[in-house]
Amino acid sequence: MALVKMSDLISKVDASYAIGAFNVSDMEMAMGAIRAAEELHAPLLLQIAEGRLRYSPLELLAPVMLAAARKCKMPTAVHLDHGATMETIGLALELGFTSVMFDGSKYPLEENIARTKEVVKLARRYGADVEGEIGHVGGAEGDMESADVLVTSVEEAVCFAEKTGIDAMAVAIGTAHGNYREQPKLRIDRLQEIHAAVKTPLVLHGGTGLTEADFKTCLLNGIDKINIATASYDASAAKIKKVHEEKPSASYFDFSEAIVEGTYANVKRHMQIFGLSGKA
Ligand code: 13P
Repeated sequence: MALVKMSDLISKVDASYAIGAFNVSDMEMAMGAIRAAEELHAPLLLQIAEGRLRYSPLELLAPVMLAAARKCKMPTAVHLDHGATMETIGLALELGFTSVMFDGSKYPLEENIARTKEVVKLARRYGADVEGEIGHVGGAEGDMESADVLVTSVEEAVCFAEKTGIDAMAVAIGTAHGNYREQPKLRIDRLQEIHAAVKTPLVLHGGTGLTEADFKTCLLNGIDKINIATASYDASAAKIKKVHEEKPSASYFDFSEAIVEGTYANVKRHMQIFGLSGKA
């Protein structure tokens, strides 16, 4: 009953909190995220990256994510993360996702703009929102190409936002996808400059491994949506291993519940840090 658009959630955000966007790969992870949202009375955004679809085909996972969003008592958006191809983006829109990301960050600026504009044109036919990326967040989400961080420039951010008409913009300010080998140095100065120059809501990728203080500083300085993927996958895997160690007779269903619980605990912890309690 509560499927909404990304823009419905982001438009309400003020500097005291940011929307948590949580990657899921199956029904159990979606159930864990919903449990956390309902318990905290928090809005929720469920997403899956194109690079993960070889494990969870979109035709199968999309109906689960959409049903989960409709079942959730809190407003919930369903988003394609790091869309790379028009084919997958089109399929996500056709299946009912309420927003899509097109990650054109590997292309030169003009090509990124042109390709992102095509996605915006298509998404508008479905009444859906679009997230783009300018600069390049390092690391890899799923099987996406890996590359070094390319910190977003203010000029490119302004130009990209104006020319594409996107609803949310992922910026690179020193974070990377996956677990950090060393603590990242965040470019809060650059975030402040971009936030002052651009009205488009800003998205932080590579949330796993940032400290509570990092998250707070980012949302206070203009970040509206924060992506968390690896931490949920790791928390679920750790819970499965724990169940296996502690209960040698564990059944399939014990492991299934371990995934729900692992994701639930991780999503809840991040929602609390992001200031989402009671914000639904
Ligand atoms: P992490 O895997 O580092 O949490 O990054 C998530 C992300 O940005 C997904 O797009």
